[in-house]
Amino acid sequence: MREVRMLLNRRAAARGQAYPMSAPLTAAGFAKAVREVRSWPGYAPTPLVVLPALADALGLAAIRYKDERGRFGLKSFKALGGAYAVRRVLARQNRPAAEVTVTCATDGNHGRSVAWGAQLFGCSCVIFVHATVSEGRAEAIRRYGAEVRRVKGNYDDAVRHAAGEAGRHGWYVVSDTSYEGYRDVPLDVMHGYGVMAEESMAQWPAGGAPTHIFVQAGVGALAAAICASFWLRWRKRRPRFVIVEPVRADCIYRSLEAGRPAAVHGGLETVMAGLACGEVSQLAWEVLATGADAAVAIDDAFALDAVRRLASPRGGDPAIVAGETGGAGLAALLALGERPEFRAPLALGPQAEVLLLGSEGDTDPEIYRRIVGRGAEEVLAA
Ligand SMILES: Cc1ncc(COP(=O)(O)O)c(C=O)c1O
Repeated sequence: MREVRMLLNRRAAARGQAYPMSAPLTAAGFAKAVREVRSWPGYAPTPLVVLPALADALGLAAIRYKDERGRFGLKSFKALGGAYAVRRVLARQNRPAAEVTVTCATDGNHGRSVAWGAQLFGCSCVIFVHATVSEGRAEAIRRYGAEVRRVKGNYDDAVRHAAGEAGRHGWYVVSDTSYEGYRDVPLDVMHGYGVMAEESMAQWPAGGAPTHIFVQAGVGALAAAICASFWLRWRKRRPRFVIVEPVRADCIYRSLEAGRPAAVHGGLETVMAGLACGEVSQLAWEVLATGADAAVAIDDAFALDAVRRLASPRGGDPAIVAGETGGAGLAALLALGERPEFRAPLALGPQAEVLLLGSEGDTDPEIYRRIVGRGAEEVLAA
């Protein structure tokens, strides 16, 4: 049987509890990022796609899928965070952008965003990728003028490598993950991600709100940004918040279980490339420790099912092009669909209006074609 585990967070804030005053993400920080990102060339809200037949098939009231494939032509939501943080790094300098180099480690999408931001705002960029990042994803980063360097080990090793090289050369690390003493930049990244939440709230039918949000997590920055945005906006009516991770890279699941950040070691192998992270970001943890209601760890097979199901919808739903990581929220819904004992404590039933964050499209078109048997254009033309 395919593996699926669920953990209810014992330390989750009670439903009526206000957003913690001490939490790092703020309404003002989100508002500032929204103002900035909206001013960029090519800005347009991504669609919130309604999937009534899928909701019906899964016994839910509604599923709405925020499709980030079209975000600034970068095919993922990451365009929001990395590029916004590059902008903020440059704004804090009193020298020309051309003299500044930004750097980061990436499993693909974050690096693409930082490289795009560096090109847009006129600074240099060096991106570190680890062993299993596909050449297609590395090439996509080079297209934005960045130098890509491949390093041994996993994502967390690449993070350490980028920090070391930055120290040696005087570069600025624009990381999406935060750790002791490194918070300002990843905080900007997370405030940038809030644009997606802001748009989703504006696109939701008037007077309503999601009852549940499923968000896939690598280091947890995306999840924490979405969680904080909705908590700040909806306060007591905040949606139930479920973290989704691959079974072998379930660092937030394990952290919630332990009540403190807990690392996962090893290869972290998963087809959900964007989620292959073994350590939760410190800032993300400060929100998710009480903001997450549950965590679900799923087998890769569910992620592949989700990609195919979105590509070949039944019952008149529109087709959606989602990468293996982008479809992970739906993958968790499919996994829970087979396990009523997990759905009940989440109140995931006929009243549930679920928001899924379709965080990426076909960020590697070759991999996408292998999974679906067709390319994105064919899927959308069908
Ligand atoms: C497409 C996609 N979705 C989700 C995530 C998870 O984001 P985070 O690492 O902030 O949890 C990533 C991270 O790279 C990603 O690339």
